[in-house]
Amino acid sequence: MSADYKVKDERLFEDGLRSINWAEAHMPVLITIRRDFEKRKPLKDLRFGACLHVTKETAVLVRTLIAGGADVALCGSNPLSTQDDVSAALAREGVHVYAWRGESTEEYYWCLEKVADHKPRITLDDGADLVSLIHTKHPQLADQVIAGTEETTSGLIRLRSMANSGTLKYPIIAVNDAYSKYLFDNRYGTGQSTIDGILRSTALLLAGKNFVVCGYGWCGRGIAARAKGMGSNVIVTEVDPLRALEAALDGFRVMPIQEAAKVGDIFVTATGDVSVITKKEMERMKDGAILANSGHFNVEVKVDELESISRSKKTVRPSVEEYTLKDGRRLYLLAEGRLVNLGAAEGHPCEVMMMSFADQALCAEYIAEKGQTLTKRVHRVPEEIDRRVAQMALDSMGITIDTLTEEQSKYLRSWELGT
Ligand SMILES: NC(=O)c1ccc[n+]([C@@H]2O[C@H](COP(=O)([O-])OP(=O)(O)OC[C@H]3O[C@@H](n4cnc5c(N)ncnc54)[C@H](O)[C@@H]3O)[C@@H](O)[C@H]2O)c1
Repeated sequence: MSADYKVKDERLFEDGLRSINWAEAHMPVLITIRRDFEKRKPLKDLRFGACLHVTKETAVLVRTLIAGGADVALCGSNPLSTQDDVSAALAREGVHVYAWRGESTEEYYWCLEKVADHKPRITLDDGADLVSLIHTKHPQLADQVIAGTEETTSGLIRLRSMANSGTLKYPIIAVNDAYSKYLFDNRYGTGQSTIDGILRSTALLLAGKNFVVCGYGWCGRGIAARAKGMGSNVIVTEVDPLRALEAALDGFRVMPIQEAAKVGDIFVTATGDVSVITKKEMERMKDGAILANSGHFNVEVKVDELESISRSKKTVRPSVEEYTLKDGRRLYLLAEGRLVNLGAAEGHPCEVMMMSFADQALCAEYIAEKGQTLTKRVHRVPEEIDRRVAQMALDSMGITIDTLTEEQSKYLRSWELGT
């Protein structure tokens, strides 16, 4: 089968196939869904437009959608996150893939346009860039879209803002907000892969370092827990009193970023917010401090301000830029301030993406069946899908759990019994 596509180097396809096969071997839930899709073809003749990190795990999702009968066009959701061997393998398999690592902003939007050209009936987003492009540049396409899904917290912030202002033109399922997604992907996935990105790029010791985590949400919790496990002294900065309190009772030091700036050795932002580390903080940092971001957009560490206070900049290792400040101090920025776990490592482990993408695949089927009945707002993942994904993941791990007895079910539904 031949398809329109644009990738960095088609010759990388064999490496890509090996990589996708490795992921498949560790994503049994998605394979179970795929076998079922192959028989029933619930996505038959539906055009999908997907803007997702083009990784080996995403390739397994794309194969699953195609097994269900879908016609998929795919672009990356970040200019630095595409695995070029994987995009080459997908192109070889006939997927309309437009993605390569190191796209310029212009190229990034060109790839998105190609996916919009596919006239999707269902959109899959990670950060809401495709929904946003369709709404701003191609509003006529929105009328044809049945519904979309959104993979991440930052995308949902944008989509809820669109829904609240009455500008959202088609329904969205908030995959990020499924328990089977954020409790595992945001926490354990981002936790492990952020540390992975820092280690692959710097190869430095984490034990004994002051490791500052900005934002104690689901991602921040995972990063803090894993950094602690590596022996770092973890410091948390927050703006929400409940989350700050939780961090304190989890055993972490909590302080304002201005204080943390003076003592931190490694800084990681995971807030979904803007301007979390600015030149005000950078000016207080120690010589050799390392800056990384794991939030969706590259706006958490103010890279333009870092440039403005620096007298020179050079690449000292892959994914590590050394900035020399005017007073001679050096700060190290990882993965250009973009998602460090995808820019400097391979993103979340397969087992975690298995759950997130099982939610995506089952929500795609739900949209194909019931999408026309949904209102133009942001919807929760149906509880039945959420629980099914968790159950399938447990099954794949060989873990069985108890079931309620008749007596227990009755008791849990009643109010009469007390002391
Ligand atoms: N790296 C990845 O692969 C990956 C995976 C999932 C989510 N994300 C992204 O990570 C970001 C965080 O996601 P989440 O699910 O943890 O969100 P969340 O809403 O659970 O947590 C964000 C936390 O940041 C705090 N915060 C906001 N502004 C802050 C500031 N200026 N200083 C300190 N704390 C601040 C909030 O109070 C909140 O507790 C989002 O951009 C999301 O899209 C990245």
